[in-house]
Amino acid sequence: MKKNILITGGAGFIGSHVVRLFVTKYPEYQIFNLDALTYAGNLENLKDIDHLPNYHFLKINILDAGALDSAFEEHDITDVVHLAAESHVDRSIVSPLDFVYTNVIGTVNLLNTARKKWKENYADHLFYHISTDEVYGSLGAEGFFLETTAYDPNSPYSASKAASDHFVRAYRETYHMRTVVSNCSNNYGPFHFPEKLIPLFINNIIEEKPLPVYGDGLYTRDWLYVKDHAIAIDTIFHKGVDGETYNIGGFNEWRNIDLVKLLCAQMDDKLGRAKGYSEKLITYVKDRPGHDRRYAIDATKINRELGWKPTVTFEQGLSETIDWYLSNSEWLQNVTSGNYQNYYTGMYENR
Ligand code: NAD
Ligand code: TYD
Repeated sequence: MKKNILITGGAGFIGSHVVRLFVTKYPEYQIFNLDALTYAGNLENLKDIDHLPNYHFLKINILDAGALDSAFEEHDITDVVHLAAESHVDRSIVSPLDFVYTNVIGTVNLLNTARKKWKENYADHLFYHISTDEVYGSLGAEGFFLETTAYDPNSPYSASKAASDHFVRAYRETYHMRTVVSNCSNNYGPFHFPEKLIPLFINNIIEEKPLPVYGDGLYTRDWLYVKDHAIAIDTIFHKGVDGETYNIGGFNEWRNIDLVKLLCAQMDDKLGRAKGYSEKLITYVKDRPGHDRRYAIDATKINRELGWKPTVTFEQGLSETIDWYLSNSEWLQNVTSGNYQNYYTGMYENR
């Protein structure tokens, strides 16, 4: 069947990798990248593929329900992969309502538009919602998040993502829309905006600025290379079962401080600096309020049922990521000029 797929948030970090994969792997699909181009959206992320005939960009805010309706009609949208979101926990602590608007109301707008457009034949359409492991809350030293783990979000970001997941579920139960949801662990890789741990610290190491480790540095995250997440999304889009949730993870847990030390060592090596040089930049700062202690995904279900598993080891992915930032200094300079400086000062000065 002819597919006109709407990928929201395609100018962001993960979305740009998903758009690139779908546009290049499926020339028979028309791919519509819908993005409002907030501070996190950057069309530079797609300049290698934006000339391809099956790629189309729509500058639309998902809060604009009328514009969504028009876009669905005009381009006869058949499927949605929904990534557009406010995505940074620290920003959600400062401005929770922005997260409610985009992540909750924006998602419901998109569901409403899809419902109007598809209601005669839901069976031919899919609404695929991209979520996060953070909806499950925080783990102690033991255990993993399963698809059946009860939601227990702690930050305004994770609460807004949890609410959007519930709305997707409700639209399936109430209107019988075909939906799938996936909940992924922390991603890293090229085009990651330098507000999250890994790209922020890469930028600071290059600039020899302090590396602000929150609290005791013993918080644990499970890291997945972004291209492996994009492959998982492709797999779920094509093989996922209606109504199911799939957890996606790297089987790759790191305590923040150990990760930062590895990053420092790899960067000293690549930058020709003395061993131990960048570690001296590590500075413990005031903790994030409501900081989740540990996330860890059990990705057995997607492995067993859909045959997906990560292809890149962490050392390899991290090394490729650092190489990408070192050879794309113009990209990094562009995104860290202007408003970024205000953000950085507001978030880290006096911390
Ligand atoms: P990102 O912040 O890099 O990109 C978000 C994109 O959405 C940007 O291009 C932005 O312009 C766009 N956007 C924001 N508000 C919008 C609006 N109102 N209308 C239209 N577009 C809007 O985020 P990311 O890290 O690429 O995350 C993408 C998705 O994956 C999010 O839904 C996030 O919750 C989820 N996720 C992220 C991670 C991670 O580690 N980054 C892990 C699991 C799940
Ligand atoms: P982050 O990349 O913001 O992802 P998330 O909070 O969604 O997991 O943060 C990853 C971990 O790194 C988290 O435990 C918070 C910590 N962190 C710091 O210690 N310093 C920083 O400057 C940032 C941005 C994060």
